[in-house]
Amino acid sequence: MELEHELESGKAKDAAASGGKQRDGFTTALGVIAATLGSAVGLGNIWKFPSITGQNGGAAFIIVYLISTLLVGLPVMITEQMLGRKARKDAISTLRELAPKKQPWWLAGAAGVLAAFLIMAFYTEVAGWVFAYIYKSVVGGFLSTDPAVTSQAFVDLITNPMQSLLWQWVVLVVIGAILMMGVSKGIEATTKRLMPILFLLLVAIGIRSLTLEGAGEGLRFLLQPDFSKVTWTTVLVAMGLAFFKLSTGMGTMITYGSYFREEQNIPGTATKVMLADLLVSMLAGIAIFPAVFAFGFEVDAGPSLLFITIPAVFASMPLGNIFMVLFFILAGIAATGAMLSLLEVPVAFINEKMHISRPVATVITVVLLALIGSTAALSSSTLADVKVFGFTFFDLFDYTTSNILLPVGGLFIALFAGWVWGKDRIVDALTNSGALKNEWVVKAFYVVIKFVTPVLLILVLLRGLSII
Ligand code: PFF
Repeated sequence: MELEHELESGKAKDAAASGGKQRDGFTTALGVIAATLGSAVGLGNIWKFPSITGQNGGAAFIIVYLISTLLVGLPVMITEQMLGRKARKDAISTLRELAPKKQPWWLAGAAGVLAAFLIMAFYTEVAGWVFAYIYKSVVGGFLSTDPAVTSQAFVDLITNPMQSLLWQWVVLVVIGAILMMGVSKGIEATTKRLMPILFLLLVAIGIRSLTLEGAGEGLRFLLQPDFSKVTWTTVLVAMGLAFFKLSTGMGTMITYGSYFREEQNIPGTATKVMLADLLVSMLAGIAIFPAVFAFGFEVDAGPSLLFITIPAVFASMPLGNIFMVLFFILAGIAATGAMLSLLEVPVAFINEKMHISRPVATVITVVLLALIGSTAALSSSTLADVKVFGFTFFDLFDYTTSNILLPVGGLFIALFAGWVWGKDRIVDALTNSGALKNEWVVKAFYVVIKFVTPVLLILVLLRGLSII
């Protein structure tokens, strides 16, 4: 508490830094971590990480993912936060302000705003399914040990256009309402309350899963690497996930960085968030895999693992209905923090750049999203036969964001920082003008962001576009 009190002055200083105009921002060190972690932790941990790990052989994939996080995700996260805090503006204006005149680096920010919309379009739909599952698991009659039955329940939900749209709208209204309250009273206050609950729920479900008979095999799958499973594609999938997981490559962390306190230790904060995010993914794995193995279900079910396999797993265990409700509440909480950050990118842009009030900017964003998102929501029903480049809208948004927009955004942000903004400014920004004694960390970071990250990213991109 003392720490929070001591750091409370951050907001005033931030306001001064933004030219005297009172700009909302995160008020405490803890608030910064909660909001940033709230953005990183999401369906990526509960939905993508287990399904991708399950499909890519378990432990060996996790190690590759860890390396990708260290060499790509974390450096881009630090860079984005650094740039955002320097300019104290939305993502596009930040790049416009920090870049030399006439150089169009702001386009990376514009691609980010576009990516935010496209990710939200499918993300709100998956979150809608999670909300629907919370409701359905509370009202009951939904649990079955037979995956054929749980599969039918899922198909019934996603092929019903009205239900799909309705649940997506419920999600959008909840997120819109929180965002209208602003950065400190909305985002920060909400994530600060939700994050501890999320950890507690995960630990409780993890313990339940680990104490099942036959759980050991699931644990081995998560912890004992078999490197024969690692292919070139595995590496690329891991890098895409690292981006998505840490909410990088699309201006989210620029926008959040713009709300950071002046005295925040950015490399330290980003590293803590990365580690905590990893912990949540591993806990989600521990909650899921031992149970999946114990009851003899398939680990490589892919994206449907969460909605088809998990309910069947819970139905198989004692007190399963309670744990299922808790599990989907947990997934809903995780999705909420991430969606707040996704929506904040366009809301901040419309609010500050177009000088439209925050509530109106939020309504505009939500309405636009309801429109764009409806194409993803209806991808398994009304629009199932409409294909763009062979993808339904849902898959198109998922594919283009992870494989193209985020790596392109991340690449340009890394190139901008390493090659244009330059070493002196980076050292000054990340050491807080010398106040932090972390110069060697910053110098190592500089080498990574200038050389290592761009090369790796170019490989991801070429692969994403099927050029190599
Ligand atoms: N990091 C979030 C997750 O893992 O679910 C997803 C995400 C949030 C991606 C915000 C991008 C973003 F800007």
